[in-house]
Amino acid sequence: MAGRLKKTVVLVGMMGAGKTAVGRALATRLDVPFKDSDAELVTAANMTIAEIFDRDGEEFFRQKETQVIERLMNDAPCVLSTGGGAFLKSENRDIISAKGVSIWLNADLDLLWQRVRHKDTRPLLRTADPYATLSDLYDQRVPIYEKADLAVPADPEFEIDDMAQAIEIVL
Ligand code: S3P
Repeated sequence: MAGRLKKTVVLVGMMGAGKTAVGRALATRLDVPFKDSDAELVTAANMTIAEIFDRDGEEFFRQKETQVIERLMNDAPCVLSTGGGAFLKSENRDIISAKGVSIWLNADLDLLWQRVRHKDTRPLLRTADPYATLSDLYDQRVPIYEKADLAVPADPEFEIDDMAQAIEIVL
């Protein structure tokens, strides 16, 4: 499959949708590298995402995120998982659509909450009412995620590899 993949497959969607896990499984199936924009930022800065937000602010993080996505989209085709906010920026969507195919992992709010509620790694959810924050983000973002080239449901009963297979089939 490695030679068959003509475009980078970019996974988009809310935090907790499973972009990293599904992305890894898909990359294995396609026999291409797996990349993750958040992981690239963490490695480059030698800081966690939360530390970058705390020290430099979200705007700085978003600038770096765009630079990383632009760089990765210029690499050979791969599977790229993006942070949940990346697809919201039209500049990022343009970069992604120029060389890639975007896939929205569409998980419902309850599943997302179950996945993120016990983790302290998402700076945007460090609010007095993280469920309400997640719910607001969900409502604001879904109409933008709907602009992705393809949408794949991320139901709790689906195994990671089954989702990867569902994506592989439609590529
Ligand atoms: C964010 C999601 C995170 C990370 C940052 C901001 C967002 O990535 O990029 O905390 O705006 O939704 P994940 O979607 O991988 O959690």
